[in-house]
Amino acid sequence: IPGKLAPTPPMGWSSWNKFDEHIDDATVRAMADAMVATGLRDAGYTYVNIDDGWQGKRDANGVLQPNAKFPDMKALTDYVHSKGLKIGIYSSQGPRTCAGYEGSYGHVQQDAQTFADWGFDYLKYDLCSGEWFYNDRDTVVRSYYEMGKALRDTGRDILFSLCEYGRFDVGEWGRDVGGELWRTTGDITDDFETMAKIGFDHNGKPSHAGPNGWNDPDMLEIGNGGMSAEEYRTHMTLWAMSAAPLMMGHDLRETSPEMLAILTNPRVIAIDQDARGVQGKAVRKQGTSEVWTKPLADGGVALALFNRSDAPVTMPVSLEGTGLAKVGKVENLWSGETSTSLPASVEVPAHGTVAFRVSR
Ligand code: GLA
Repeated sequence: IPGKLAPTPPMGWSSWNKFDEHIDDATVRAMADAMVATGLRDAGYTYVNIDDGWQGKRDANGVLQPNAKFPDMKALTDYVHSKGLKIGIYSSQGPRTCAGYEGSYGHVQQDAQTFADWGFDYLKYDLCSGEWFYNDRDTVVRSYYEMGKALRDTGRDILFSLCEYGRFDVGEWGRDVGGELWRTTGDITDDFETMAKIGFDHNGKPSHAGPNGWNDPDMLEIGNGGMSAEEYRTHMTLWAMSAAPLMMGHDLRETSPEMLAILTNPRVIAIDQDARGVQGKAVRKQGTSEVWTKPLADGGVALALFNRSDAPVTMPVSLEGTGLAKVGKVENLWSGETSTSLPASVEVPAHGTVAFRVSR
């Protein structure tokens, strides 16, 4: 089933990392406002996504209602659309979501139609509700297929985001059920170790990723305060090198200038959003030093040198493994400096990154 809604990795914001289930109408509107006011929208962030915690009960006809924190979903989606943004919602295919709210089990078509009627543009579909659901491959694949079909049958363009933590090799079948991104790991937390483990070691197979089908190493933690600016730059660079969806996860009203600079760096975003849609990977690993490359649409490459250790390290820089024979222009992705050659080596700070765009 060929997707069409995510030719490049989706960008936006989701409520979960910061607000958990404590999300409401006013906060979602405030995030849309902040997305515009900060310039994040104009930098490419598009989706404002409500995660778990919005659901109430079903009415007598089985139609799922929002809880009291969301008095009027249609008015909310209209508001977010009026800001030039898109809006997403969340459900799960078991009877209960991961936070214990009403899931879509037994109401798949009905819920898809409800989301379409409300005006949603994106659905994140989780895998919760116990072992009987979780551990059987066919059941899991079928449940995603059913929701994907139900979404298409509404006739509305709704981007389908699979959240089943990479189980049963989701990259092999995610596209076939209509998914355009699929989580590859468990939940991220706001610390370097977890972020690094997910981003460096566990984000699916690069061969599965490409236009309209992306490995999703989970939402960003940039701006939530648990990592240093250096570590958040590594987080952003690693997600961009991985062609990962860029879903912010902090309170957008509290975006510091330093975090804003990380999140809106146009050179790094361009690597993530490159039209060729290749997920980059490590071409050299030596202990805690990793060199990653990502081939780009213009025939150049992104080249990132990561230092996962607690101490600064000097790393040699070369074209080895990039497929490029010679250097035309070099741009430092973080400093913005340009040159006509790569340095022979660079000093990479602890938990830090030095990255370049190398053009032919
Ligand atoms: C799972 C998902 C998270 C979030 C929560 C909501 O843990 O992986 O991203 O959606 O459920 O309960």
